[in-house]
Amino acid sequence: MISPPNEDNLITPGDLILIYLDIKRQYLIQAAEKLNLSSDLGNMNLGEIIGKPFGYVGETHLGKKYYCLRPSTADLMFKVKRKTTIVYPKDLGYLLIETAIGPGSRVIDVGTGSGALAMVLAKFVAPDGMVFSYERREEFIENAKRNIERAGYLRNIKFYCRDVAVKGFTEQAIDAVFLDVPEPWAIVPKAADALKGGHHLVSWSPNVEQVKRTVDVLRENQFIRVRVSEILEREILVRQQGVRPRERGITHTAYLVRAQKIIVGSRD
Ligand SMILES: C[S@@+](CC[C@H](N)C(=O)[O-])C[C@H]1O[C@@H](n2cnc3c(N)ncnc32)[C@H](O)[C@@H]1O
Repeated sequence: MISPPNEDNLITPGDLILIYLDIKRQYLIQAAEKLNLSSDLGNMNLGEIIGKPFGYVGETHLGKKYYCLRPSTADLMFKVKRKTTIVYPKDLGYLLIETAIGPGSRVIDVGTGSGALAMVLAKFVAPDGMVFSYERREEFIENAKRNIERAGYLRNIKFYCRDVAVKGFTEQAIDAVFLDVPEPWAIVPKAADALKGGHHLVSWSPNVEQVKRTVDVLRENQFIRVRVSEILEREILVRQQGVRPRERGITHTAYLVRAQKIIVGSRD
């Protein structure tokens, strides 16, 4: 659970905490009175961090320091148990601000997959908004629910087990539609029915062929301002011996498609 920021910034049971030893040893845990964590750098009695402030520095039984940090939204995404690929923070951060959603919005997410995207959307629309998350495989929904429960956002998500290319959506007057599926073009006409006029559809696709097909169908289905981009991220190593980009990293993730729905004939 992500507890809302409080003035004293103290760790309470149930809080999600990133236990950081070094870049290779980072653990997302849920604080509890009795909790032990082991690593090759020693054992940690994490019961002792209850009541301590975030930022607390502890020691393993081998004398190695560990740090109690607030997990970022990206940490929450990367630490979900994955049954599918998930969206990357660099892409999602950009696409979120390319829509008009915020607290109170009602949004559609397809497919639920591992729940990483649904979780971030729920965080964005909370406390009063709602995410309607559609997935055709029941076992993925169960895994996603467990992932999202840990972050405390289940009450802002309604799940459906359904192939939306065939059966469409239950909701109407939706503020944004997020598609992360292999065949987004098959869902675009259903999304057009569910979306409010003027609002956004965004879609992730790893391959150019998928993008071309999706864009063609968007243009045939009352969408304008259709744009496609790719975000490249390069980590920079800052070290005494020299500052330069890391040689390896994430290269291509997805092409990002976005478009807005118009109401044809609304002038009459
Ligand atoms: C790449 S995963 C989505 C990952 C998710 N966005 C996340 O961040 O965890 C794609 C998911 O879409 C589901 N899917 C594909 N086509 C679908 C359809 N027509 N209706 C419902 N779900 C679909 C798949 O079963 C799969 O779980």
